Amino acid sequence: MAQDVACIFSGEESIRNQKLIYPAASRNQDPILQVLKRFIISDTEDEESPLFLEIASGSGQHVAYFAPHFPGVRFQPTEVDDNLLGSITYYAKNCTTKNILLPKLVDICTKLSAYGFQENSVDYMYCANMIHISPYECTIGLFQNAGNYLKPDALMITYGPYSKDGVITPDSNVQFDASLKARNASWGLRDIVDLVKLAEQNNLTLIDTVEMPANNKTLIWKKN
Ligand SMILES: C[S@@+](CC[C@H](N)C(=O)[O-])C[C@H]1O[C@@H](n2cnc3c(N)ncnc32)[C@H](O)[C@@H]1O
Repeated sequence: MAQDVACIFSGEESIRNQKLIYPAASRNQDPILQVLKRFIISDTEDEESPLFLEIASGSGQHVAYFAPHFPGVRFQPTEVDDNLLGSITYYAKNCTTKNILLPKLVDICTKLSAYGFQENSVDYMYCANMIHISPYECTIGLFQNAGNYLKPDALMITYGPYSKDGVITPDSNVQFDASLKARNASWGLRDIVDLVKLAEQNNLTLIDTVEMPANNKTLIWKKN
């Protein structure tokens, strides 16, 4: 089965007009959407529509695929790599339901207040395929920001491959982890046990683990 390498460039990604297409994102967007449909409430009585904050948007494909299914939700894509903002903007502007905000340049290692977000103001945070393809400081930043900027009882959804109790399965993920570390020694699959500890330090609880295609998982974290 094809490894879910997202934007590790191997020459397989392509640009059409300004739009980047990551094959992995094309494959995993629908399975992730099916999970989101279980956890996102689109029609609320609130005056302001719920805010879905994506960290590490990459090409921008994920929010582009999700947003039309949740027309009552505002999707805010963000990226640390400004080379990707053109593609994310392309998807945002071409969204038929017009509920994707223009992307913000966000480094998740920095407090979100630096980008205009207020504490306890975000309804959903979402981060796919960053935790294992960035230094662990980014994971710490992600959980610290989730703990501070999500509303009480709000959810963070993370997607990717993880190890559990120090064990990586199956062999394809062991090889993937080795290839990540060969590429950058600070990258690699993170262990769910360590993430649960990090979550507890930041007032978050793991409430669900959903098995996904290609040996990935979607983890659902709730702010206490
Ligand atoms: C493998 S790509 C995933 C992109 C997209 N989420 C997807 O699943 O297709 C990892 C992304 O993490 C981003 N990233 C790395 N470090 C980051 C940081 N400190 N803050 C925010 N994003 C970061 C990279 O720029 C890259 O776009």
